[in-house]
Amino acid sequence: MSEIPYKAFAHIPLAMFRQMRQNDPVHFEPRMRGWAVFRYADAMYVLSHPQLFSSEAILPGQPHLPSILGMDEPRHRKLRNIVSQVFTPRMIEQLTPQITAVVQQLLDKVIPRGRMDVIQDFAYPLPIIIIAGLLGVPAEDQAIFRSWSDSLTAANGSNDTPETRVSNAQSFQAYFLQKLAERRSQPQQDLMSRLLSAEVDGEKLSDEELLEFCRLLLIAGYETTANLLGNAFVCFDQYPEVVEELRQHPEFMPGAVEEILRCFPSVAGDNRVALEDLMLGDKQIQKHQTVSVMAISANYDEEQFPEPERFDIHRDPNRHITFGYGIHFCLGAPLARLEAKIALNIVLQRIQNIQRDPTRPVEPVQSPFIVGVRSFPITFTA
Ligand code: HEM
Repeated sequence: MSEIPYKAFAHIPLAMFRQMRQNDPVHFEPRMRGWAVFRYADAMYVLSHPQLFSSEAILPGQPHLPSILGMDEPRHRKLRNIVSQVFTPRMIEQLTPQITAVVQQLLDKVIPRGRMDVIQDFAYPLPIIIIAGLLGVPAEDQAIFRSWSDSLTAANGSNDTPETRVSNAQSFQAYFLQKLAERRSQPQQDLMSRLLSAEVDGEKLSDEELLEFCRLLLIAGYETTANLLGNAFVCFDQYPEVVEELRQHPEFMPGAVEEILRCFPSVAGDNRVALEDLMLGDKQIQKHQTVSVMAISANYDEEQFPEPERFDIHRDPNRHITFGYGIHFCLGAPLARLEAKIALNIVLQRIQNIQRDPTRPVEPVQSPFIVGVRSFPITFTA
């Protein structure tokens, strides 16, 4: 057990979250004209009552994007069911050889150099290659996906102008419409073909829905996992004793991954809109007000996690809500977990003496909804 690494993630306002959980757990934020929920129990209440807290139209003033993430029942369930069988732990387990091969190849490239930027050379390429394979688009196009994704989420402090964003969105559309057209004439064993052949209430998905689904799978599938992998290296840097333990006991890796997810959630919160006037804690929430579930604060709630500010890879139970909870629970959780487990175990087997390059600062991702680092240069021996 170790103290939480305040150095790399010093910007996470743990003290403020603690104070809010104690003094104002359901807090009205005038700037957002909405509520922020800090306690675990309240967060679970919101996420497990989708009939009261909607996922639709969550961003005032923005067009509604018809992806399952922003849909309520019954349509959400019907669309989710099209792909949910592909993402069960049993199905995902079958990707083990592919994931292993990609991890080995990525390491083969950097090992002769004895250095890498964890984010650019490892954490980003791995999930994009895997999700591109599942979707059915060539992994060689990963650089293009990344520019769209950065621009669409603006999560990595992207400096794109509005014009660049529009043109990226257009090239995303053109690219996927072409790939979808190819699949229409020649179906394959991939997610795009599955989406194309699916019918919901007797109708095929619209082009807009198809594009949104591809966009969600592509972006949700890799930005988040990349940050999880990057955060794992930050933890390795700060807890050398954990690295030694994991080298001796690779079977502890799943527990370590869960603790990294809990302490450094690559998705820090989930937004909802109240569908009626209701009470949450002792606060009156009005219909149409937004409610932000602060997963990152809930993951440190002392009512749920004894000594929450300790990093403990043996924490059991560890019911963090980094993958959300309820009907929108992350579809890709089994995939993210498997990728992280395989990748990090191989890293610890193949490279030793992992050292952060002290001449280069670790720069956090500039987004309140994501905990991650933009680059993490390391040196090592094979
Ligand atoms: C939904 C987190 C990886 C696909 C979600 C939600 C969270 C989340 C918090 C729910 C949001 C809400 O309730 O509003 C994460 C984290 C990941 C990760 C932390 C990695 C560490 C992935 C991967 C995929 C994926 C690898 C693969 C395709 C999705 C999809 C949804 C989703 C499709 C929407 C589910 C629905 O609305 O029913 N994710 N995710 N995610 N995630 Fe992930």
